[in-house]
Amino acid sequence: MSASVLVLDNLCKRYGALAAVKDMTMAVEPGERLVLVGHNGAGKTTLFNMVLGLTRPSSGNLTVFGAPAGSLAAREATAFLPESVAFNGALSGTETLKFFARLRGEDVACVHGLLDRVGLADAGHKAVRTYSKGMRQRLGLAQALIGSPRLLVLDEPTSGLDPVSRKRFYDIVDSCAARGTTVLTSSHALTEMEAHADRIIIMRKGEMAADGTLQSLRQQTKLPTRIRVRAVSAEPVSQMTKELDGCRINGQAVEVVCAANRVSAHMKSIAAFGDAVADVEILPPGLDDIYLHFSARNDGDDLP
Ligand SMILES: Nc1ncnc2c1ncn2[C@@H]1O[C@H](COP(=O)(O)OP(=O)(O)OP(=O)(O)O)[C@@H](O)[C@H]1O
Ligand SMILES: [Mg+2]
Repeated sequence: MSASVLVLDNLCKRYGALAAVKDMTMAVEPGERLVLVGHNGAGKTTLFNMVLGLTRPSSGNLTVFGAPAGSLAAREATAFLPESVAFNGALSGTETLKFFARLRGEDVACVHGLLDRVGLADAGHKAVRTYSKGMRQRLGLAQALIGSPRLLVLDEPTSGLDPVSRKRFYDIVDSCAARGTTVLTSSHALTEMEAHADRIIIMRKGEMAADGTLQSLRQQTKLPTRIRVRAVSAEPVSQMTKELDGCRINGQAVEVVCAANRVSAHMKSIAAFGDAVADVEILPPGLDDIYLHFSARNDGDDLP
């Protein structure tokens, strides 16, 4: 039996002539926070549906905790939060969670702790139809956490949530991961996911275009780092621009674009300006830059 949470071996899903997921091979380890990014129609939800046993692979193999995807053992260990979570609006939050706890064979007493954990303790008695989108999504997360699943599958879980709700959402998810839960998330919110991903997979037309940590993807792309230097006054900016071989970006700041391994050398040159420097910002390529790099249309085909 495999110790990996997920093992994909040449996994494919075809819909007629369309290969929604193509030859995906990988293993996901316990406690990993794996984030899937990719254009609309890249195959993220299709992959999740196969992990959940909602759809069968056309070919290849997929195991969840060593058991076939969709088997009772796999489903017992897995919880899912779909993008558009739908509950019976007439039930209260507490009633909703009790319903799902019974379905999972868990003690309904767990629901109070779960409501508290997602910040809905005071709203548990209210009908779900009165909940805001953020509250519904948090109720969805509480539903997913019933029975302490070992694998959480979250399909675009924070779309439409405000920044505070997003932060709160990921604080809870990260605390689950810290306790060993594996978290599989799909998202289009690239910058937001940087802080919540141990590993990132970029999907393109059903295929894995890239797989690695943010740091390793940065290295693979060789995209430049930007250093922004703000001077205390406009006076030294011309000299800074010249000596640092940068570009003036406004009256008081210079931007230097360099390879990642040249940052420390540039920092020495910047330090030589002493008190003329008000502050320095180092901006390595973000996930959005990396995503654009790997999503470049290099095969002449238009994306859907
Ligand atoms: N049941 C289905 N029947 C036919 N085609 C399907 C089916 N489900 C998905 N597809 C197709 O498979 C491809 C992948 O779709 P999928 O929903 O997995 O994309 P996605 O990456 O989740 O996109 P999004 O970011 O928009 O959610 C798309 O071209 C889609 O139209
Ligand atoms: Mg999707």
